[in-house]
Amino acid sequence: MLQKVVRSTIIDAPIGRVWAVLRDFNSHDRWHEVVAQSRIEGGEPASRVGCVRSFTLKDGNRIREQLLSLSDEEYKSSYCIVEATVPLQRYVATITLKPVTDGDRTFWHWESSFATPPGQERELRDMVAQGVYEAGFESLRRHLRAGSDLRAGTDDAPPARATAGPMPSRQVRISRFGGPEELEPMPGEAPGPRSGEVRIRQRAIGVNFIDIYLRRGWVPGMLALPGVLGMEAAGSVIDVGDGVGGLLPGDRVAYLCPQPGAYCSVRTLPATHVVRLPAEVEDETAAALLLKGVTADYVLRDLGRVRPGMRLLVHAAAGGVGLLLCAWARQLGARVTGTVSSEAKARVAREHGCEHVIVTPDYRFADAVQRHCGGADLIVDGLGDAARDENMAALAHCGHWISLGQASGPLQPLDADWLMAKSITFSRPVVFHYVATPDKLAERAARVWGALAAGTLATPVVERFALDAAARAHERLESRASMGSLVLVA
Ligand SMILES: NC(=O)c1ccc[n+]([C@@H]2O[C@H](COP(=O)([O-])OP(=O)(O)OC[C@H]3O[C@@H](n4cnc5c(N)ncnc54)[C@H](OP(=O)(O)O)[C@@H]3O)[C@@H](O)[C@H]2O)c1
Repeated sequence: MLQKVVRSTIIDAPIGRVWAVLRDFNSHDRWHEVVAQSRIEGGEPASRVGCVRSFTLKDGNRIREQLLSLSDEEYKSSYCIVEATVPLQRYVATITLKPVTDGDRTFWHWESSFATPPGQERELRDMVAQGVYEAGFESLRRHLRAGSDLRAGTDDAPPARATAGPMPSRQVRISRFGGPEELEPMPGEAPGPRSGEVRIRQRAIGVNFIDIYLRRGWVPGMLALPGVLGMEAAGSVIDVGDGVGGLLPGDRVAYLCPQPGAYCSVRTLPATHVVRLPAEVEDETAAALLLKGVTADYVLRDLGRVRPGMRLLVHAAAGGVGLLLCAWARQLGARVTGTVSSEAKARVAREHGCEHVIVTPDYRFADAVQRHCGGADLIVDGLGDAARDENMAALAHCGHWISLGQASGPLQPLDADWLMAKSITFSRPVVFHYVATPDKLAERAARVWGALAAGTLATPVVERFALDAAARAHERLESRASMGSLVLVA
């Protein structure tokens, strides 16, 4: 009588990534814990139906198996044993994958039928079920978690890497510097990825205050006209160019990048700026959080070296970066004071960990800070010129002024002797320098997702706009009415 073994599981990875490993008939010695060596006989491609693979197992057994069918459309393959030192007779197996839409995961079904010598039915059924299938599920999970599948392609790589032509991309472009009315939606194209590049179907695009500086022409040389604004987005990989390790079609990703160009539906960019997203981080959350969260991370952890009891002053405390700074600094034990321009913003800032809120639409806060805590050890200032003198007055001796941005206007040059009056340290950092390598970016992004998972950072407050309505998003951000992050949905 034929024995039947059926096992299935859910793998926490997109179907494209799981299939890229399983469709390779010669891949098992790279991921399955029981396989010591795998070789395709006669040098045939590992995806050619009829090819035979020769396994040596870690326990010394040998198995030759033949590929019977392979369907990239159905994510399905079948194979049979043609010769083996284990007594599995007439063994035929099928692997089928299905996408799990909830969370971009993969359902993996593995089944086989075979005959055995009398009396060995149960032993061999258990060996196939546990020793091969269950162990295989776990082995593949480990392999994907370690990213070991994400190496450069083999000669027989899946179609994922095929070079493709341009794809239509909806873009929001400016042709000259100026107000929000300069933002113009129009059709465009995203070229096929070249070596080292990845093409992304973008679903959510983060709006940052730097987009406004660029639109106004305040950052010389950073945006050639006509040009597309935007420094960050989230979505999924369409295809990758040669030499890209770590990313495959279907992977959910986010990026932040010093070259503007994110206000579009499909973008091609260097893979070095891209990180894979954990399943639980949604596209909108990622676009709302990546650049701003990474900024909060380097400001508090590296540049500001925030420690318990430190007196911190955060401007625009209900803004995108401001809310994250308040929540994270509070968790690090700092005493957080914030400035905001309205009572409504004060409520939101308090809910996010801002202990003491000063409501001031006209940049007057120094006296209130001195009264409340005797001066700030650290000021995180995205306001710029209008708050210049008040910042100096609000600082404690030996304080640190981190000039992060210039929402009120470009900060005029400072006199070094002016800083000396209180032994002030002054910093003028740029987020991109703090994520200049893929490792640094991955490390900081992981800390941001970790803070979200731990509840240190709340799911961000997001105001959504359609990509075509980018001009309205800019009006809202520069009107000082917005709270939290603004995201364009493509
Ligand atoms: N250097 C870096 O690495 C880096 C990285 C990210 C962000 N940043 C900077 O951090 C700051 C916050 O960025 P964000 O994207 O999160 O923006 P945001 O804080 O959500 O929005 C800017 C806020 O600035 C305040 N503001 C004061 N005067 C303003 C004016 N004249 N026009 C507009 N806003 C004014 C407003 O809050 P109130 O009304 O409550 O005052 C406004 O909500 C910006 O300066 C940005 O350039 C720097």
